Amino acid sequence: MTKPIYENLFKPLNLKGLRLKNRITMAPLYLGYAASEGQVSPLLLHHYKEMARSGAAMIMVENSSITPNSSGTPRTIRCDHNRYLKGLETLADTIHQEKSLAGLQINHAGRFAHVSEPVAPSAVSVFGKTPRALTKREIVTIQRQFANAALRVKQAGFDLVELHGGTGYLLAQFVSPRTNHRSDSYGGPIENRIQFPIEVLKRVKDAVGDFPVGYRFLVNEWLPDGLQESESILLAKSLEQEGIAYLSAMGGTYESFFLPDMVKKARRAGYMVSLASVVKKNVGVPVIAAGRISTPSKAESILKEKKADLIGLARMLWVDPEWPKKARKGDERSIIKCSPVCNACFHLVMQGKSAYCTKWSLEKRTIYQGLFQ
Ligand SMILES: Cc1cc2nc3c(=O)[nH]c(=O)nc-3n(C[C@H](O)[C@H](O)[C@H](O)COP(=O)(O)O)c2cc1C
Repeated sequence: MTKPIYENLFKPLNLKGLRLKNRITMAPLYLGYAASEGQVSPLLLHHYKEMARSGAAMIMVENSSITPNSSGTPRTIRCDHNRYLKGLETLADTIHQEKSLAGLQINHAGRFAHVSEPVAPSAVSVFGKTPRALTKREIVTIQRQFANAALRVKQAGFDLVELHGGTGYLLAQFVSPRTNHRSDSYGGPIENRIQFPIEVLKRVKDAVGDFPVGYRFLVNEWLPDGLQESESILLAKSLEQEGIAYLSAMGGTYESFFLPDMVKKARRAGYMVSLASVVKKNVGVPVIAAGRISTPSKAESILKEKKADLIGLARMLWVDPEWPKKARKGDERSIIKCSPVCNACFHLVMQGKSAYCTKWSLEKRTIYQGLFQ
């Protein structure tokens, strides 16, 4: 085989015993493709087959909920009962058939959950709703639910599980000074606020043994009174100490995503790379950088400059599943680019609809619509 132009991008990596054939991973991307009760659907299988066939080393499947009432969106994959195992097995198999590693992200949306009475570390209102503060007993129950869901991910045949500590969901809500006002051992200084995610990781590891566990890591909420690097790095170091396999860096939450400054920032290529770079300087575990990494040359420079160890492509892979193959051939110019000013996918899922990409051909859109149940 000829030497690839992007040498760093096509170097294998060992991740807690898993061999990633290159540095390209799919970052989790919820698109509203699960069936109405959260089961794995034909559309979801079709979509992930296409993503895995891309040649990316690892596909991290979008967030799945760990309890019946902890999902942040409709048509979210569910991982809260053994009845979902069969569908999850088929999903893992589908990805493996295309020679990619398969991971599943697990999540509790906390104050962003789509339920009449959401729960959170503290009763801090969001979008007109005030969540109820969790009791200590409920906290222990949720930790067990994370562990049970992680075990299901392992039993379903995935290669790894990812805890969703990003987007301002429950794990992040405990860490943030903005959303955690507790006066017990889970609140107060950052050392206390990281206790919940650290305990979740410990429970999960007790349940799954040496199965790799990764973490979607909120570096900065991009809100004036929110979590920032000065505090989040302590969590990064503690997760490393507790055996996390990797950290997948991200910024922003539902409360900042729509702010004009953030909208502007998110249009720039590599807009979250600086966050990954800060994390990488502070830990020894592999770090994933995502955020509009639209070209292989950008990806290559991130790796070469040691700002991250792995590249996460979410919309970038979805808009053009040939991205990795085109990169391998050095055919950067033919890569179909996600438009920085479009954001149709995000708006569609925010309205509870399944997403399509405005760059797709009519034929592809028809196939996806036809599979929607
Ligand atoms: C529609 C949509 C759904 C997303 N779903 C998830 C998700 O389920 N879990 C997660 O950690 N991040 C999620 N993200 C964030 C992506 O993983 C990624 O960090 C972000 O889109 C930037 O990468 P990109 O420019 O390649 O899309 C989502 C983003 C979008 C736009």
